[in-house]
Amino acid sequence: MTDRFAVVWTRAGGKPVKMGSLVATARECRFSYDAIFVNSGLPGFSLLAPVERLLDKTPVVRAATERFPLHPRLMALIPPNSPGNLQRRVYAELLSKKKPPPAPGFETEWGILMLAGRNGIGHLDVFPSDLEAEDWYAQQAGETAVIGGRRGIWGLLRDEIHQSGGIGADAAQALADVMGPTPSVGGMTTKLLAAIPDLPVWGGELARPGTRAVRQTPYTDAVIKIEQPGYEGITVLEELCYTVHEAMGFRVPRRWTLEIDGMRILAVERFDRTRAGLPIPNESLLTAFSSGSPSVTSTSDLFLPEVAAWIKKLARLCAIDVQTTLREIFSRIAVALMTGNGDLHLDNLGFLGGSRDVVLAPVFDPAPMRAWPRHNMRMATPIDFVHGEPLYRQIAKAGTAFGFTLREALDVLYRAREATKDYPKLVTASKGVPAAQKRQLMDVVARERQLLAETIVI
Ligand SMILES: Nc1ncnc2c1ncn2[C@@H]1O[C@H](COP(=O)(O)OP(=O)(O)OP(=O)(O)O)[C@@H](O)[C@H]1O
Ligand SMILES: [Mg+2]
Repeated sequence: MTDRFAVVWTRAGGKPVKMGSLVATARECRFSYDAIFVNSGLPGFSLLAPVERLLDKTPVVRAATERFPLHPRLMALIPPNSPGNLQRRVYAELLSKKKPPPAPGFETEWGILMLAGRNGIGHLDVFPSDLEAEDWYAQQAGETAVIGGRRGIWGLLRDEIHQSGGIGADAAQALADVMGPTPSVGGMTTKLLAAIPDLPVWGGELARPGTRAVRQTPYTDAVIKIEQPGYEGITVLEELCYTVHEAMGFRVPRRWTLEIDGMRILAVERFDRTRAGLPIPNESLLTAFSSGSPSVTSTSDLFLPEVAAWIKKLARLCAIDVQTTLREIFSRIAVALMTGNGDLHLDNLGFLGGSRDVVLAPVFDPAPMRAWPRHNMRMATPIDFVHGEPLYRQIAKAGTAFGFTLREALDVLYRAREATKDYPKLVTASKGVPAAQKRQLMDVVARERQLLAETIVI
C-alpha cells in the first residue's frame, strides 16, 4: 500500500483554518499539527492530543490495527461497516464508480473518509488537500439550503431502509445529493445529519446541516434517527427516556418526533454546534480512551470502575471537572438501570469541548434497548459480579469509584428508582411500541426494581 496523505481543518474558531496533516501507511497513522495552528488557541485534534503538549511538533502516532486502521478520532468520522448502515451504502456505491474502485478494507475506509470526513459530529474536517478544503468551504458559503422535495426524500429513505443489500446507483446518487457531502454519524440506527426548522412542531422539512434559516424561518442542526425494521417503537421509547432524564434535571437536547411516509423519526438537536452554528469538539469516551490505549477497542471493553479510573487519568491532559463528571456518569447509570437501558456504553457517553473546557456531553441515545431480547444485558460497562452479595450493593460499591460513599451511591440508585416509578405506566401507555417489547421491558424494569429493593440498607 502506498502512503496516503490528507489534511485536517477546523472552523471551530469561526473561519476555517488548517489544523495539521495526516499520513497513513499500512502500519501507522500520523497526525502533525501545523506550526501556526499550535498558537491559535483553538481546540486540537483530540483530548488525547492536546495542542499544548505538541509545541515541539511531535506527531501523534497510532499503530494501525484491524479495528482501528486509522486514529480512533478519524474512525469516528467514517460510517460503520454494518449492512444496515444507509450512509455507508451510499458512499460505497459512489466509491465503486472510481477507476479503479478502492479495495475493501483500508482503501475503502480511507476513500470514505476523504468523501465524508467533514462537517460531521465534532469540529474536525478532513480533506485530501488544502485546495479541496478551501474549495469546499467556499462552496458551502454559496450552497442552496433546502434539501430537495420533502416527500421525495422521505419516500426514498423509506425504500432504502427496507432493503439492506446493495443500493442502486441512481438511489445512491439521489441520496448523496440529499445528504450532500455530510458524513454519517456512528451508531447502529440509520440517521441523517440535517438542519430542521427551529419551531415547536416539525413537519419533516430538511436543509443541509449548518443552515441557519430558510425564508425567514430559523433552522437548527439535528441528528435525525429513523426507525428501522426490527426496532419498531425505538424512537418512541427513546423519547420517553429523554423525558425521564429531563424531569430529573439532566442536561438533554431538544427533540422533535414525526411520523412520515410510514416511518417514525426522532430528531435530536445537536449539542456539538453553538447557537451560531460553530462546531464544538465532541468525542466519545471510546474514541478518547482507545486513543490512549490499544487495549480499549470496543464499546464494552472496560469495567465500570475502570471508566472512573480512566477519567481521572484524562484529567492529567485536560481541564475536566473529575468529581462532577464521575458523579454524573454514575447517576446516568442508575437511570439506565431503572429504565432498561443496558446500552450505556463507551460510545453513548461523550466529551464535549476542547482540552481547556471539556465537560460530559448531554444525555444522548438513552433508548431502553433491553426491550429487544437480543440487546437484553444489564450493563454495557459491567462490574465484576460475585455470588452471594446483593447485586445492587455491588453496583453501589462500584459507585464509590465515582466519588460517592457507599451510602450516597445507594441513594443515587434509590433516587433513580423513585423518579421512574411511573415509567412502567408510561411504557404501557406508549403508542407504536409492539406488545412484546412492552412486556419485555416491563419485566426487566420490575426485576431491577425488585433487586434494588432487596439490597439491605447499611
Ligand atoms: N444530539 C447530539 N448532538 C451531537 N452528537 C450527537 C447527538 N446525538 C448523537 N450524537 C452522536 O451521534 C452518535 C450516534 O448517535 P446515537 O448514539 O444516538 O445513535 P445509535 O445508532 O442509537 O447508537 P448505538 O450504536 O449506540 O445504538 C453518537 O455516538 C454521538 O457521537
Ligand atoms: Mg449510540
